[in-house]
Amino acid sequence: MRIDILSIFPEMFVGPFEHSIIKRAQESKLAEIHIHNIRDYTTNKHKRVDNYAYGPGAGMVMMIQPIADLIEKLTSERNYDEIIYTSPDGNLFNQSTANYLSLKNNIIILCGHYKGIDQRLRDKYFTMELSIGDYVLTGGELASMVIADAIIRLIPGVLSDETSALTDSFQDGLLSPPVYTRPYEYDGMKVPDILLSGNDAEIEKWRLEEAIRKTKTLRPDLWEKLEG
Ligand code: ADE
Repeated sequence: MRIDILSIFPEMFVGPFEHSIIKRAQESKLAEIHIHNIRDYTTNKHKRVDNYAYGPGAGMVMMIQPIADLIEKLTSERNYDEIIYTSPDGNLFNQSTANYLSLKNNIIILCGHYKGIDQRLRDKYFTMELSIGDYVLTGGELASMVIADAIIRLIPGVLSDETSALTDSFQDGLLSPPVYTRPYEYDGMKVPDILLSGNDAEIEKWRLEEAIRKTKTLRPDLWEKLEG
């Protein structure tokens, strides 16, 4: 899978994609991440990437020309399955969207800034608009990293133990059950005996019960969706 990220702050991406699972996914060619500097596509003398919004007191908007040229260039080189714009007014990104996107070949993610992008760009090029939560970030860079990270770990073959993605929180709509490691007794608290019973079926049953109990308590909104 190839992800092209369009940003006015490409330096922000140094680091997050260079460790652990995401690094290995790229080394094994399961994921390719290309960061593009929008500023490199400006044609104005001062390499400006913003412009005034029409109407009073509306602030700055990302300039149309460099974004349009960059998207035109990329889409002339290959077909993209989705062209995504990150914005707090997009649809809430969740595990089901991550699953859907992890099965795509090529996607573009534009990191939004200022007051956003011109509505006509949204209408012309973008197939998805995603928000990572109901709060406002300084820009879409962190959002695009969150989205790319959540997608890449789901690409088949990226996680060494394939089942570990299947048992993630949210994968079945429930939060994950608690997990325990050694020692058996820590600070007077013991590991639940069922986990030492050797009875795999009973352990699975216990895990499901715990997942349901946790979801009902911590995320009644998720539980309601499952029941509804
Ligand atoms: N840009 C600013 N805030 C954002 C958010 N919550 N999600 C996606 N992009 C954003």
